[in-house]
Amino acid sequence: MAEDKIEKLVALCKRRGFIYPGSEIYGGLQGTWDYGPLGSLLKLNIKQEWWKSMVQDRDDVVGVDASIMMNPEVWKASGHLEAFTDPLIECMICHSRFRADKREEIEAHEETHKGDKVEWTEPKKFNLLVEAKLGVIEDEKQTVYLRGEITQGAFVNFENVVSSTRVKIPFGIAQIGKAFRNEITPGNFTYRSREFEQMELEFFVRPDDREGDKWFDYWKEQRMNWYVNLGFDKKKLRFRKHEDDERAHYAKYAEDIEYEAPFGWSEFEGIHHRADWDLSRHKQQYVAENGEKFTPWVIEASGGVDRSLLFFLLDSYKEDGKRVWLSLHPKLAPFKVAVFPLLANKPDLVKKAKGIFDSLRPHFMTAWDDRGNIGKRYLSQDEAGTPWCVTVDFETLENNTVTVRDRDTARQDRVKISDLQKYFFKRLNS
Ligand code: GAP
Repeated sequence: MAEDKIEKLVALCKRRGFIYPGSEIYGGLQGTWDYGPLGSLLKLNIKQEWWKSMVQDRDDVVGVDASIMMNPEVWKASGHLEAFTDPLIECMICHSRFRADKREEIEAHEETHKGDKVEWTEPKKFNLLVEAKLGVIEDEKQTVYLRGEITQGAFVNFENVVSSTRVKIPFGIAQIGKAFRNEITPGNFTYRSREFEQMELEFFVRPDDREGDKWFDYWKEQRMNWYVNLGFDKKKLRFRKHEDDERAHYAKYAEDIEYEAPFGWSEFEGIHHRADWDLSRHKQQYVAENGEKFTPWVIEASGGVDRSLLFFLLDSYKEDGKRVWLSLHPKLAPFKVAVFPLLANKPDLVKKAKGIFDSLRPHFMTAWDDRGNIGKRYLSQDEAGTPWCVTVDFETLENNTVTVRDRDTARQDRVKISDLQKYFFKRLNS
């Protein structure tokens, strides 16, 4: 069932317009994915919820939106040119490359050679930064790197942010954006991609062990609660501490938030204690009100938009006989409401339903459906994760009420048209 689930989800994503393989009509491009009409809405909702909880609802975090291409000196200073590497081994039969620490993938590959003895090269360091060439004169083109983490854009602007806002330590810089990695073996659907989006908080604190530990624990809890409050099954989430030999070059210590995916426990957010690694490398300092000058420490909460989207989908995928539905949290659901006329060939019903559709649309992502019968429309909205369906029937024409059907319980409420906006607003925020 577990393996099955991912295959079913991939099929649903393609069929319903959540996620398509990148550049599919030209044979694809490994490790890239395109989000369709439903997927792009889901992605936007995840990012908006993250931004709301990290920036809008807080006094101590401000946002930035830095460039993807940065001066290569940034990556030299941050240590990525030297240390942002994976150990890579190559199959001496077919020259396929794998990460030396991915035992299961290596064994699976050996089996494809059906009994032939597979020899491997010694592990070699492979830098994950993606190179690009910038400039118009062929011989003078400058090599730049597409950012391997969005993070450095926050650090190189540290002093800019302090001097242009009223932030005081402790405070954070939040950012959402694309990152690129030359992953050796992209796979597990969107889980390991070469282009992906991150949502990150860099939180700056006094360089002091107690402060560092306090905020590390605080952000661990905040981030786990955020996922749980958006509907994740708590039993499928856990923290995992990084061992000494797996920590990134910048991390003093680190813990991951992991989800029990069909392909095993898998990380999708990292809480990292980066101490003064980055700010000291970029020579960025903080000057306190009393004139004291110091290099703050950084506690980072770095989540993947694509990975959390994949896990929100996996966690909400439900089946019951023929019915398949996504029990997505209403705040994340691409459409909040769908409106149907009971019969598409009755102009009075259609007109009334259109009026309701037009009145809800400015406030909620609202879908319209007048195809097939009501049962099929419910099934279709269930697969899209739409939490509520409004049906305009003959009773509506008599007393201005509609049925509102709930995706998860299939319960139907009779609600006055004039109360609908309030009704959905309340349910969305309850
Ligand atoms: N700034 C710290 C940093 O980038 P990371 O653990 O390398 O840390 C953070 O990445 C998050 O970015 C991961 O938890 C994951 O959600 C996402 N991520 C990393 N590599 C990814 C990939 N190849 N495909 C999709 N998401 C990825």
